[in-house]
Amino acid sequence: MDSASGELVGVGAFAQLSGLTVETLRHYHQVGLLVPAEVDDRTGYRRYGLRQLPRARALAALRDVGMPLEDVAAIVDATDRGTRRARLVEHRRRLTEAARRAAGRVNAIDRLIEREDVMGSPLRTGEGTPMLSGDRIARELLGTLERTDFGHLGARHEGKVRDSYVDGDVRTIVTTDRLSAFDRLLGTIPFKGQVLNLIANYWFDATSDIVPNHLLEVPDPNVVRVRECAPVPLEFVVRAYITGVTKTSLWFNYQAGARNIAGNPMPDGLRKNERLKAAILTPTTKLEAHDRNLGRDDAIAEGLVTADLFDRCADVCFRLFARGTELAAQRGLILVDTKYELGLLGDEIVLMDEVHTPDSSRYWYADTYHELFRQNKDQRALDKEPLREWMAERGFRGDGEAPVMTDELRIATATRYILLAEELTQRPFEAPELTAAERVANLLRD
Ligand SMILES: Nc1ncnc2c1ncn2[C@@H]1O[C@H](COP(=O)(O)OP(=O)(O)OP(=O)(O)O)[C@@H](O)[C@H]1O
Ligand SMILES: [Mg+2]
Repeated sequence: MDSASGELVGVGAFAQLSGLTVETLRHYHQVGLLVPAEVDDRTGYRRYGLRQLPRARALAALRDVGMPLEDVAAIVDATDRGTRRARLVEHRRRLTEAARRAAGRVNAIDRLIEREDVMGSPLRTGEGTPMLSGDRIARELLGTLERTDFGHLGARHEGKVRDSYVDGDVRTIVTTDRLSAFDRLLGTIPFKGQVLNLIANYWFDATSDIVPNHLLEVPDPNVVRVRECAPVPLEFVVRAYITGVTKTSLWFNYQAGARNIAGNPMPDGLRKNERLKAAILTPTTKLEAHDRNLGRDDAIAEGLVTADLFDRCADVCFRLFARGTELAAQRGLILVDTKYELGLLGDEIVLMDEVHTPDSSRYWYADTYHELFRQNKDQRALDKEPLREWMAERGFRGDGEAPVMTDELRIATATRYILLAEELTQRPFEAPELTAAERVANLLRD
């Protein structure tokens, strides 16, 4: 017996006392870090002396901070404090560096999770992203069209997204890249004006047998010339599903207990994103600062429209919605809901503003609708709803200060818009050589 080791205990007890496992003790024995006081020749059973405990505990402490074995040996065997301290400080430096890298990774994984939630998976491949170079997008991020002022074209009107210039019976509309959601302006999205214009013009063409529209010519991807109409002072919202997070949305109101929305009785027990028995019309006021739901009877009682005009408009809207639903379905999309603006030229109803664009409509992918609905999951949306939800998740529902969009979110949103344009028009999107700001300035300046 090695008397210098003091009273002997078996390896199991020693493991308990030292905080090292039997396995680790065997390992330390093999590498010579901590040699047992006694090893039974026959059975190999190891005993340790209680005086070895301080060394064992020092080894345990160094193991707990992840010290490499060669350093452990150097530290526990060092005779001077300076050497020990230098090794410990060096290890601290390595740990700090690793922590910094880990923090970077935590940030990166947060961004992945966020994009997974908001924009669809950045990890998913083969979904067909628009053929736009990073360089071209970067140029457009700085060259978006935010505001125009071409007074020589006529009286200027600024809408949420479009700047109009009215000259007699012709209106020049510049579709800017402004993004409005929750009834608020949130910034600009690259190529958004062009995409909106493309989609609206595609639908004007695809619905011209149902109702005449205002379109005269398209002198630039962001600009149209249209016939000036007398607007019907209602926005005609048609909905086939119960969804949404804004204050006028169906789901928001239904969840808050409303069972009659703009004159449409709603049954109990509906779930978010459920398809309605039939599409419904929930008009909102047009000429007020914030949208307000109001039914047919209120609209007539408030003197906004005659019963006859309302019914003719409603008929046009349901037929437009049926066409939209049908064509979207051919492209694997669901037209969830949309907003129409109608105007009058004499007694004729004319479709104006925009139609079935991602600004005025929600689209979902049809193939995953049922499964996601069954699982109570968010639908895969090809419109700005993910952006609305990104805002809502940050507590923004239209009141107070809006969170600032990151470039990443702006690009992801642009990608959504472009994909939808390609999907609907069945044509590849083409980015013009010049940015929207450059082109429109060239075209419309005095
Ligand atoms: N052919 C047309 N005749 C008259 N007005 C039109 C015509 N086409 C569009 N407009 C109007 O031009 C404006 C376009 O701007 P924009 O679409 O940005 O506005 P908005 O989003 O409808 O919001 P708001 O007009 O309430 O500010 C709208 O007010 C729309 O009603
Ligand atoms: Mg509009």
